[in-house]
Amino acid sequence: MDLLIHPSSGLRGERFIPGDKSISHRALLIGALAEGTTTIRGLSASADVQSTLSCLKSLGVEIEDDSSTIVIHGKGPRGFKKPFAPLNAGNSGTTMRLLSGILAGQRFDSVIIGDASLSKRPMKRIIEPLRLMGANISGSADSTAPLHISSTYNLRPIDYELNLPSAQVKSTILLAGLYADGVTHVIEEIPTRDHTERMLGLKVQARGRKRSIEIKGGQKVAARSLSVPGDISAATFLIAAAAIIPNSELIIRNVGMNKTRTAVLDVFRKMNVSFELANEREEGGEQLGDIIAKTSALRTDVTLRGESIPLLIDELPMLAVMALFGKGQFTLRDATELRHKESDRIAAVVQNMTTLGVDVVEYHDGLSFHPKDNLAGGTLQSFGDHRIAMAFGIAGLRIPGVTICNAECVDISFPGFWDAIQA
Ligand code: S3P
Repeated sequence: MDLLIHPSSGLRGERFIPGDKSISHRALLIGALAEGTTTIRGLSASADVQSTLSCLKSLGVEIEDDSSTIVIHGKGPRGFKKPFAPLNAGNSGTTMRLLSGILAGQRFDSVIIGDASLSKRPMKRIIEPLRLMGANISGSADSTAPLHISSTYNLRPIDYELNLPSAQVKSTILLAGLYADGVTHVIEEIPTRDHTERMLGLKVQARGRKRSIEIKGGQKVAARSLSVPGDISAATFLIAAAAIIPNSELIIRNVGMNKTRTAVLDVFRKMNVSFELANEREEGGEQLGDIIAKTSALRTDVTLRGESIPLLIDELPMLAVMALFGKGQFTLRDATELRHKESDRIAAVVQNMTTLGVDVVEYHDGLSFHPKDNLAGGTLQSFGDHRIAMAFGIAGLRIPGVTICNAECVDISFPGFWDAIQA
């Protein structure tokens, strides 16, 4: 579906966002690994989370998902059944990588496939550590999906220092660590989102400026009742929309405020986005609150680079597009990882900005540009990438004549997004 976006004269009122996608994947996987019944409220209705849910069902996990509360009848780490067919992770890198950690420890063979985009994404980052643990896992010649995993008896514990800051790699190793004969440590120098260690209640120690997360093989996983906060990565699009559209004031409810996810709020502050937090509270070990965002006089003379990049990784396309509507040169560096997401997000942003008439400079690890007035509309590619579609969809609320191709791909993380911004 190609969608023509209508410029907005102001966004006002209240919006609810989907449950946090990272927490939702983990809640399902950890609920399946637990012995007993886990109930989840506020699970993300996104297509990515549905991929995790349907893979778990194919592994014999009974999940009642016909109401607003999901009930998982956990199987314990050894209770999964060999699937009849390849498991399909769809577009979801989190599904493919985290599930591989669990499958690596099973005493049956399995195959995980993904869609065209996921089949191009790098899997060496999980294949290498899983092999160090004794897993039988292989991908294509260039270490991409499909991933073939064959039966192992028990895995070996490892001490593994991440060579790239990735919460997915960290989580994959931690989940595989449940199947190891002994204690596994994952050490990260640059912090990444910490939902896995938080949900499993793992011991985290400082080793100098590094963090070491410990998991004991065979440790029990507790069944629980949990409530998923709203996804701050989804809220980012609405905050940016309110900031750039005149006469706007949006209240975004129940946004997850976990400290490893709020770096985007620091950038919003730096760029002079006018927003406030309200109703801050803690629920189920995660912080949350409401965000009230308003039309803002943006400062865009900022450079985003260095250690903050992994903590902003999913927000960078929107931050870059928001900067089109400010004053001062915007620069993004050290973000090569963006080239390995659902699309090459640096190339995608550069191509669409160029179509809009922006003089954007592309670097191997980022981009830079000076905002300019009177941008032209045009037909913009989403590259099937939800975050590219949403970021440029927001630009279309300011620039007349923007059409987003394959606009339905927003369902990957934010079903209902187009209604939320056109309302
Ligand atoms: C995620 C981690 C990030 C992020 C992705 C979700 C997670 O990926 O980009 O959308 O849930 O662990 P990396 O950790 O691989 O950078």
